[in-house]
Amino acid sequence: MFNAIIKGLMLVLLGSVPCFAADDAMNPERAKYHYQMFCQGCHTPDGAGANAIPPLKNFMGYFLRSQRGREFMVRVPGSALSTLDDAELAEVLNWSIDNFAGVSLPAAGYTPYTAKEVAVLRTQPLQEIENHRASVLAEIAAQESQGAES
Ligand code: HEC
Repeated sequence: MFNAIIKGLMLVLLGSVPCFAADDAMNPERAKYHYQMFCQGCHTPDGAGANAIPPLKNFMGYFLRSQRGREFMVRVPGSALSTLDDAELAEVLNWSIDNFAGVSLPAAGYTPYTAKEVAVLRTQPLQEIENHRASVLAEIAAQESQGAES
């Protein structure tokens, strides 16, 4: 009986602790380091982008206005195919949103990405990006012009 309780407790601990750490604990220093190592080379230090690299700055928040947009930010190759693990990728995306989204952020804020969410989405990296991106943004623009607050 006592053993069973201890076993049960251990299972709970083993099962939940890594998830908790992965999903919920944002470590801004680590996230910034990962951004610098794995994203900044293309996206520039302040997320402004250059040439063929679209800005994250004052823009990421627009994608958070639709589910497809939210998914898009994980499924672009720079995110999906990065060597960061799922928790690290979720963290760096949340950190980038917090630091770069600026005026584009929905007034109501956003639900941070979790390792679990990112894990599923990155198994479907986008093959064709340009049209997909345009249709995601067109959908959001139409939604906004209908006055749908998000
Ligand atoms: C090799 C250059 C490169 C690296 C490294 C890179 N990206 Fe990107 N990223 C791009 C390009 C180019 C696009 C535009 C879509 C496309 O063609 O993939 C993009 C698009 C994005 C978008 C969608 C923005 C939009 O408006 O289309 C997000 C979000 C993003 N990247 C996040 C990241 C994150 C987070 C990392 C680091 C883990 C990262 N990227 C690493 C080149 C890169």
